[in-house]
Amino acid sequence: MSALTSAQLDGVMQTTLNQMGWSVEIVDPYTGIFLKRMHGARQPVADLGCGFGIVTEHLLADGATVIANDIAPAHLEEVKRRIPDEQRANLTLVARDATQLDFPADSLVGIMAGRWVHFLTSPAFREFFQKAYTWLASGGTLCVTVHAMKAWCAPDVCREYEKNRESGMEWPGWSANWLEDAGFLVEKAGLYDLMIPSYPASYRSYLASQNTIGVVAIKPFR
Ligand SMILES: C[S@@+](CC[C@H](N)C(=O)[O-])C[C@H]1O[C@@H](n2cnc3c(N)ncnc32)[C@H](O)[C@@H]1O
Repeated sequence: MSALTSAQLDGVMQTTLNQMGWSVEIVDPYTGIFLKRMHGARQPVADLGCGFGIVTEHLLADGATVIANDIAPAHLEEVKRRIPDEQRANLTLVARDATQLDFPADSLVGIMAGRWVHFLTSPAFREFFQKAYTWLASGGTLCVTVHAMKAWCAPDVCREYEKNRESGMEWPGWSANWLEDAGFLVEKAGLYDLMIPSYPASYRSYLASQNTIGVVAIKPFR
């Protein structure tokens, strides 16, 4: 806990207000690809489960129209506080469970789902990606980041995962096939290190390497 506190203090990561992970002020390689793709976006971009809105901030600064969503209304208050007045007209805030959202078909050019889909279980997980596919316009980009099962050196959690997997549970972990089943073309998928140079050594040793999964997928043109 002391390592976590000092990590919070270094200004790079902050615990979420609803204890659903941390907000990290660093753009990982997959989110970086997404942000580049959204450059010059002519349709709205949704940052779902946006936390304190780090991705939203980048998108707005680059001129995009953004729908920032989070299940915690207090997080959206913080997003509003962080965004400069002159960019607010391009921002819509939606406090809701992202799996319950209902955007018009083909209305979004990009969807970011950063480090929260691991909170879903099946069938909500599968249904969410089917909806995301519908919401995206053809050629639109979906970016998902999710903590890998073995990110955290927590043997009891890993044992539970192995038990679920062996019993044939449909969603004991991640599968990019589910994106393909929903119709997406997976362009890039892999593991990366959610490692921050300024982490204290004690915190770095708590995280396994290659601890986070990133996926960039597109909705192909029909
Ligand atoms: C680990 S934080 C990541 C925040 C941000 N996406 C990022 O990468 O910095 C997870 C966030 O997802 C939100 N969240 C979790 N489940 C959600 C859901 N079903 N719908 C919308 N937001 C959700 C939490 O409130 C929290 O802000």
